[in-house]
Amino acid sequence: MSPRKIIIDTDPGQDDAVAILLALASPDELEVLGITAVAGNVPLPLTARNARIVCELAGRTDVPIYAGCDAPLSRPLVTAEHVHGKTGLDGPVLPDPTMPLAEGHAVDFIINTLRREPAGSVTLCPLGPLTNIATAFQRAPDIVERVQQIVLMGGAYFEVGNITPAAEFNIYVDPEAAEIVMKSGVDTVIMPLDVTHKVLVTKPRNDAFRALGTPVGKAVAEMTDFFERFDREKYGSDGAPLHDPCVTAYLLQPELFEGRHINVEIETASELTLGMTVADWWRVTDRPANALFIGSVDADGFFDLLTERLARL
Ligand code: BDR
Ligand code: CA
Repeated sequence: MSPRKIIIDTDPGQDDAVAILLALASPDELEVLGITAVAGNVPLPLTARNARIVCELAGRTDVPIYAGCDAPLSRPLVTAEHVHGKTGLDGPVLPDPTMPLAEGHAVDFIINTLRREPAGSVTLCPLGPLTNIATAFQRAPDIVERVQQIVLMGGAYFEVGNITPAAEFNIYVDPEAAEIVMKSGVDTVIMPLDVTHKVLVTKPRNDAFRALGTPVGKAVAEMTDFFERFDREKYGSDGAPLHDPCVTAYLLQPELFEGRHINVEIETASELTLGMTVADWWRVTDRPANALFIGSVDADGFFDLLTERLARL
């Protein structure tokens, strides 16, 4: 079978970086058509830079990287340096990228790719605020029905919020964009905090990355070392949650995950609960299901997959 075609839309971010590395380490299953950077964890110039650093680390300077939207659809940008550090990729010391950004805007790349490739053959993998994807859908409504699937990291139900008491970061930063995506009708899989908080880089798992003895293994160990600081202090958890790699792992081994087909709506009005994913987990409304909302994961299986694939880079 030929590899599944994906576009990774991202705001790296250490966990985004690991998600990208996992995809690039899996060319038999995944063909990364391009990476589109969006403003999120840090401003756009840094996310576009970090995406290039990650591709160079993986030795994959052939993957085009496009810069996209530098601010949410209708709100000022909120960033997360308190989690990811000043550069967004704090932890390892990695060289400045030398590969250039691809010419053109990320939104045009998304639109042109979906129009060019056979309908139903391209999956979108958003790992940050949904601004690029929503802008593409608004500008070119004809592409919406051509998307094979969206597999995204965002939202929460049982874990509720990480950036506010009610909202998860990616959805909070651009709730209007998230609403457009959730109402698009595209087959959508959501990796909320409910599952990502179950894939923690414990000390033995971090040691396993380092023990790969490769630049990639070392960098991933150092990134997750840095990134765990925040969650350890805040949640008292055992290590860094690998939010975004859940998206890539799902594409590779969906059987590691379980969830429910439910209705998910986005709060865009209330100041108190802005960006909340109102997930009808208990099916108490008759609103139609619009997403597969993941709730659990085989965490050991996830780390076996991740470590084995990182060893290939
Ligand atoms: C999400 O927000 C970012 O900080 C992470 O990269 C992840 O995509 C988790 O809430
Ligand atoms: Ca991210």
